[in-house]
Amino acid sequence: MERELALEFVRVTEAAALASARLMGRGDKIAADQAAVDAMRRTFDTVFVDGTVVIGEGEMDEAPMLYTGEKVGTGDEPQVDVAVDPLEGTNLVAKGLPNSLSVLAVSGRGCLLHAPDIYMDKIAVGPKAAGSIHLDAPVKDNLKAVAKALHRNVEDLVAIILDRPRHQRIIQEVREAGARVKLITDGDVSAAIATAVEDTGVDILFGIGGAPEGVLAAAALKCLGGEIQARLYPEDHEDKEKIINMGIADMNKLLLLDDLVKDDDVIFAATGITDGDMLKGVRFLGKTASTHSLVMRGKTGTIRFVEAVHRLDKKPQFVVSRDCS
Ligand code: FBP
Repeated sequence: MERELALEFVRVTEAAALASARLMGRGDKIAADQAAVDAMRRTFDTVFVDGTVVIGEGEMDEAPMLYTGEKVGTGDEPQVDVAVDPLEGTNLVAKGLPNSLSVLAVSGRGCLLHAPDIYMDKIAVGPKAAGSIHLDAPVKDNLKAVAKALHRNVEDLVAIILDRPRHQRIIQEVREAGARVKLITDGDVSAAIATAVEDTGVDILFGIGGAPEGVLAAAALKCLGGEIQARLYPEDHEDKEKIINMGIADMNKLLLLDDLVKDDDVIFAATGITDGDMLKGVRFLGKTASTHSLVMRGKTGTIRFVEAVHRLDKKPQFVVSRDCS
C-alpha cells in the first residue's frame, strides 16, 4: 500500500469520531455508534482502494453497513482487507468517559485474521517487553519477565484489565504479585495500544475482550513493535459454530502476532472521540472542531500523531441544527 493512503485513512476515522462525538454523554450508545458507522462508511467511499470489510459491524443480515464482506472504497487498486470499529467503546461515549476511539486497520488481502464476533483471551505489551510474555504462563511469571525486560521491579508495573467478574482471578494474581492494577470499564483496543506508547503509565494488558478488537489491537502493536498473544474464547456451541464458519480449523490455537496480522504491510489509524491516555477527544469550537489521531504503517514503523482543525462550514454534516454564528 502506498504511504499516502495513511492520511486518507485518518480522514475516515476523523469523520467517524466527529460524528460520534456530537452524541457524547447523551446516554445513547446505539445512536453514537450509528453516527460513527454512517460517517465512516460515507468517508471510506472517497478513498481510492478496492476494500473488503473482514472485521466490521457484524454479518450482512445483522448490520446494514460495514458488514463482513461489504465492499468499501472507490473500487480502484489496491485490493485491501479492512477491519473497522467506527466506535470502540460505545458505553464510553454514551457516558462521556475516557478512551473511546474510532479505529481501523487496512492490509493486503488475506493478511488479517477473520475473527468472529466472540471473546478472545489476550496478553499484550509494548516493544521493550516484546518476546518476554506467554499467554499460558502464570500471571506472576509474566509480570517478572516484563519487569526484567523493562529494568524495573514488579511493584513498578501497571497491568491494565477490563473490570469484569471474569477477571477476578487475574486481578487477584496481579495484586498478589505486587504489581499495580488499572481497571477500565471498556475499551481494550486503546488499553493494548497504551502498553506500547511511552508515558501512558501502563505496561501490560491481561484479560478477555472482543476478538475483533484483538485483531485491531494486533494491527496497532505490529506497527508499534509490541506483542500480543491471544486465543479465541468461545462461550457456547453458537460461538464454536462461528469459529468454524470463519474457516478457523484449530479454535484452541495460541494466536501470535503474525497469526493475527500476517504481514507488515498494514496501516492502523485511530482518532480519539472522548479524551484518553494517548489521544485527546474531539473539541467543538463553534465554527471549527479539532481532532487528535494516531496513524502508523507496519512497513516503516513510523508513528504519527495528527492534530486537525476542521472547518464546520465546509463540513455541514458535523454541524448540529443550533446556530453557531
Ligand atoms: P463496544 O465498543 O462494542 O461497546 O465494545 C467495548 C469493549 O469494552 C471492547 O473494548 C472490549 O473488547 C469488549 O467491549 C469487552 O466485552 P464485554 O463488555 O462483553 O466484556
